[in-house]
Amino acid sequence: MQISELSTQQISGAVALWERTGLTRPWNDPYADARRALETSTSTVLAIIEDEKVIATVMVGHDGHRGWLYYVAVDPRRQGAGLGRKMVEAASDWLTERAVPKVQLMVRNENKAVLKFYQRLGFEDQKTVVLGKRLGAKS
Ligand SMILES: CC(C)(COP(=O)(O)OP(=O)(O)OC[C@H]1O[C@@H](n2cnc3c(N)ncnc32)[C@H](O)[C@@H]1OP(=O)(O)O)[C@@H](O)C(=O)NCCC(=O)NCCS
Repeated sequence: MQISELSTQQISGAVALWERTGLTRPWNDPYADARRALETSTSTVLAIIEDEKVIATVMVGHDGHRGWLYYVAVDPRRQGAGLGRKMVEAASDWLTERAVPKVQLMVRNENKAVLKFYQRLGFEDQKTVVLGKRLGAKS
């Protein structure tokens, strides 16, 4: 099962997967998220494509110190077969190749069920409160 960088032509397939897996939110433009990640040298979107369909993704990026994962998703019909683990490992390798020492991610409060998945992969609660504020950037 090959993991490769998403092409711009495949963005709509990735967004369809993110919608199917409940990862999109009205205040985020997932097309712009994917485009920006692909255009920027410190980020990318990795994917598994099968029969021209996007079945698994992870968006990965870093600021030199920390690597972040977003849009970790596996097609509901393919979940439970190790693909989620493969995507997180591929993103972690991508960061390691760039000498980034740490990987982390945010889990929405309403998605706490997924914490067990990350715990199986060795992730730990960082006992940190994440604060945020929306800026007026145009996408
Ligand atoms: C979370 C998600 C990516 C996991 O992908 P997956 O392919 O089903 O996961 P894997 O089969 O690779 O599972 C890896 C390990 O985690 C465990 N695991 C996966 N989901 C789990 C769950 N909901 N509860 C407990 N354990 C779980 C598996 O048993 C497996 O353990 P093992 O390797 O020791 O056998 C997938 O369920 C998904 O796309 N969910 C919807 C989108 C989402 O919520 N993404 C996360 C946003 S933060």
